[in-house]
Amino acid sequence: MIKEQIKSIVNKQYPLVTNLSNASAVLNQLENINWCGFYLVKEDGLYLGPFQGEVACSYIPFNKGICGRCYREKKTIIIKDVLKEKDHIACSSLSRSEIVVPIIKNKEVVALIDIDAPIFDRFNEEDAKTLEEVAHLLEELF
Ligand code: SME
Repeated sequence: MIKEQIKSIVNKQYPLVTNLSNASAVLNQLENINWCGFYLVKEDGLYLGPFQGEVACSYIPFNKGICGRCYREKKTIIIKDVLKEKDHIACSSLSRSEIVVPIIKNKEVVALIDIDAPIFDRFNEEDAKTLEEVAHLLEELF
């Protein structure tokens, strides 16, 4: 189970990059995905954090991409077909659907969990719920 594994690797004594690196490896066990990782909120935008998959955008402005939308709306975004989304930033030509989940601390978005899939309509409400619980487990690291 993803949640149990995340719980077992999270250690507040360790650097953020250490925890998120192992968390990305846990998330990478999900089936039918081609990219998973974190974007970290900094003053001027979203910066790539630990991830598993192909090279991705290092920086996403707050007003761009599905990640930017997730940041602005402070809620989980599920995109069934990224090819139909004009906002979508295609880091990998393989991606067909995507879920982005905010990690919220003290009512502020501090990071995002981003997962891409090579098939359409990969993510449902159950995935959203699980990933929101994972986000909640990770918020103490910020
Ligand atoms: N697709 C994202 C960009 C990040 S990559 O998927 C890793 C977006 O539209 O914001």
